[in-house]
Amino acid sequence: MAVERTLTILKPDCVRKNLIGEVTKRIQEAGFTIKAMKLTRLTKDTAGGFYAVHKERPFFDDLVEFMSSGPCVPMILEKENAIEDFRTFIGATNPDEAEEGTIRADFADSIGENIVHGSDSVENGKIEAAYFFPESEVVANNA
Ligand code: CMP
Repeated sequence: MAVERTLTILKPDCVRKNLIGEVTKRIQEAGFTIKAMKLTRLTKDTAGGFYAVHKERPFFDDLVEFMSSGPCVPMILEKENAIEDFRTFIGATNPDEAEEGTIRADFADSIGENIVHGSDSVENGKIEAAYFFPESEVVANNA
């Protein structure tokens, strides 16, 4: 299986609930290597740009409002089969449909406030990683 990278964001609800440590611990225990991470607060413009593919969706304004409502923690994660494995690890977008033991089943309140984001493809993972991290902030493979 190929080594892949995925972009996750520990969303503002994750930070507000003091779950940065717990979720990061689970991410590492699941075998993902952190290649970049930072604490930041998105503006509405930055959040809207990140989720531009959803611009026409009815939930877009709420999503932008929520994602800019407080600090969040974007990370680049690396692992074999990272895209699919991370999506399995976090569970379905709607926490009511998420498998027991997944991040969203354990911690998320709603489909809108669902604790974490995960890239949906290798290609989007690259675009999303570059949206948050210049090359100089990504730890080299041999570091
Ligand atoms: P995420 O994986 O970050 O990508 C898009 C986000 O839109 C998604 O998680 C949800 O948190 C959010 N969202 C809000 N409402 C909906 C909805 N009705 N359907 C899908 N996604 C939604």
